[in-house]
Amino acid sequence: MKNTILTLAQQKRNGDKISMLTAYDYSTAKLMDEAGVNCLLVGDSLGMVMLGYDSTLPVTMDDMLHHTKAVTRGAKNAFVVADLPFMSYQVSVEDAVVNAGRLIKEGGAHAVKLEGGKEVCAQIQAITRASIPVIAHLGLTPQSVNALGGYKVQGREREAAQKLVDDALAVEKAGASAVVLECIPAPLAEWLTGLLNIPTIGIGAGAGCDGQVLVYQDMLAMYNDITPKFVKQYGSIGDMMKASFQAYIQEIQAGIFPAKEHTYKIDKAIMDEVKS
Ligand code: KIV
Ligand code: NA
Repeated sequence: MKNTILTLAQQKRNGDKISMLTAYDYSTAKLMDEAGVNCLLVGDSLGMVMLGYDSTLPVTMDDMLHHTKAVTRGAKNAFVVADLPFMSYQVSVEDAVVNAGRLIKEGGAHAVKLEGGKEVCAQIQAITRASIPVIAHLGLTPQSVNALGGYKVQGREREAAQKLVDDALAVEKAGASAVVLECIPAPLAEWLTGLLNIPTIGIGAGAGCDGQVLVYQDMLAMYNDITPKFVKQYGSIGDMMKASFQAYIQEIQAGIFPAKEHTYKIDKAIMDEVKS
């Protein structure tokens, strides 16, 4: 079944939880799509897990387009969301619409995601008016790491919690189709989920959200530079990969690989002529 903006809204109404994973390349996107994941997020987290930066701040529109194109080629049924990278939408509403348009038109994404509340509502409104669905992102917004003073839980104090409520209502009113809630207390995320008509997709926000998202390298245990409390590991793929690489090295050295079945034959008479 093809996932669309309408089926995601329907899932919220039916209490049918939404699954989302990050994806950055064709073959991984294809596996996730075949597994039946509802939404693939080409997150700007690719700056960290794919490109090795220590934050998402250096990620460019070109980086996002490159990875979005690969993911959309692999996604048949999944709804593909692409992140607007740092400084591609903050400066002006015009920038925001132009760059959102590129992720859709050139990248093939179905929606874009941007970080922030009231301060980006003009952008959300303008992008939505261009017929591009927008996903908002509140709580721990990694593009604001320097302003937040690090990666930590948000919305625990009275004022911060109230600001989250106000921002969530504001992005919904501005036209957002869904909102990602990152690293906020579970009771607050549950309250917001009941308050909003649009789906909430949580990461470190508890089971009360309408859906969940994880970075796939985190949930497969392929990346351990940063290991947040909210990650659950569904496989030890990093260890499996390392063990496979080591076995490969050993078999090359021992002359076990390649074996006869991995090689191509040639007619003996032809080979004798070549040698003569
Ligand atoms: O870039 C990303 O992976 C994200 C998710 C953590 C929501 O924005
Ligand atoms: Na992101």
